[in-house]
Amino acid sequence: MTAPRLTVDHLTRSFGGRDVVKDVCFSIAPGQVSCLLGPSGCGKSTTLRMIAGVDRPDQGRIRIDGTEVFGPSGDSPPESRGIGLMFQDFALFPHLSVFDNIAFGLGSDRSGRKRREQRVHDLLDRINLGGFGGKFPHQLSGGEQQRVALARALAPRPRIMLMDEPFSGLDNRLRDGIRDTTLDVLKEEGAAVLLVTHEPEEAMRMADEILLMRAGQIVQRGAPYNIYNAPIDAEAAAFFSDINVIKGVSVGALTQTAFGSFLTPGHPDQTQIDIVIRPQHLRIDFDRAGRGPNPTLGDGTAARGIVQRSRFLGHESLVDFRLEADGTPLFATVPGVFLPKAGTALWLMIRRDRCYVFPAKT
Ligand SMILES: Nc1ncnc2c1ncn2[C@@H]1O[C@H](COP(=O)(O)OP(=O)(O)OP(=O)(O)O)[C@@H](O)[C@H]1O
Ligand SMILES: [Mg+2]
Repeated sequence: MTAPRLTVDHLTRSFGGRDVVKDVCFSIAPGQVSCLLGPSGCGKSTTLRMIAGVDRPDQGRIRIDGTEVFGPSGDSPPESRGIGLMFQDFALFPHLSVFDNIAFGLGSDRSGRKRREQRVHDLLDRINLGGFGGKFPHQLSGGEQQRVALARALAPRPRIMLMDEPFSGLDNRLRDGIRDTTLDVLKEEGAAVLLVTHEPEEAMRMADEILLMRAGQIVQRGAPYNIYNAPIDAEAAAFFSDINVIKGVSVGALTQTAFGSFLTPGHPDQTQIDIVIRPQHLRIDFDRAGRGPNPTLGDGTAARGIVQRSRFLGHESLVDFRLEADGTPLFATVPGVFLPKAGTALWLMIRRDRCYVFPAKT
């Protein structure tokens, strides 16, 4: 395995006696993109600022290519850490041309002039703005400015790129393309990237590894696929999509619900259990004169739901139900167009391999 470019150990920072970042540990290899993902106020930007060197940790250690930049044996100033920064309000220098904006961090000694020009033209090509070097920021669209800011941050070949919600100022149409361009350029440059975002779609799209943060701590980490498919609790599941929660009480290794029994081993009798299922994993079946499909091992027992409303969302339809048995609200998404009328009775089933079992949080 490649040696990590950035290593953060037990990073802690408190403001007014409250731990805003607590015991955060992770490392990022060259060419790897890690996303700090979490709700507003969970400590993402604070973590980033400490790595950049503009805020001082209360405890912990930060190493770049094995060399301590913060810790018991040192505290290097931001400019010597070899870190590139990109924020939402990236502000290009308005009086400098695109070329000069990108060349800004490259020094101005005479001998390096050719190399500097080459580097800027190279980056302009890579962000698909070849020939834009002579323009000024006010002559560019928001997306073009964003790409120039990226090139400016990359020009000095930072070993590490720290990005704090860099795409949140862009409209949706532009954003996906710019994300992909950014990702391509960053990978080519071999920088270790830490991207801060509160949007799960952005993290899933960009990250090799997601670091899920909550109240100052990293609560789960892993590849997007693993984080999405094996959430550690209902809250982690709910961060990535709407969820349905079916409540029950464990007895032995089982929990009985309107959908039949679920295997819920490892909990003491009478534990309140939440069975969590994403809306795309509820199976809908038609009502056959009051009867539903037969129970199966994989899908359990069907329970009757009454449609509350249904909406078309473009690539899928969202149907709200209430369970006839106990009024539990449930949401199901169905690919394409499926818009049953309010009041319609349909049967719902839950795939046992798609549900998550958690003890209920009190
Ligand atoms: N200099 C400071 N003094 C006091 N409190 C601070 C300071 N900086 C941050 N905080 C507090 O620390 C917490 C975490 O802030 P931080 O900016 O890291 O959150 P965040 O995860 O980046 O949120 P967002 O997604 O909204 O940007 C917040 O409650 C914030 O009010
Ligand atoms: Mg922030």
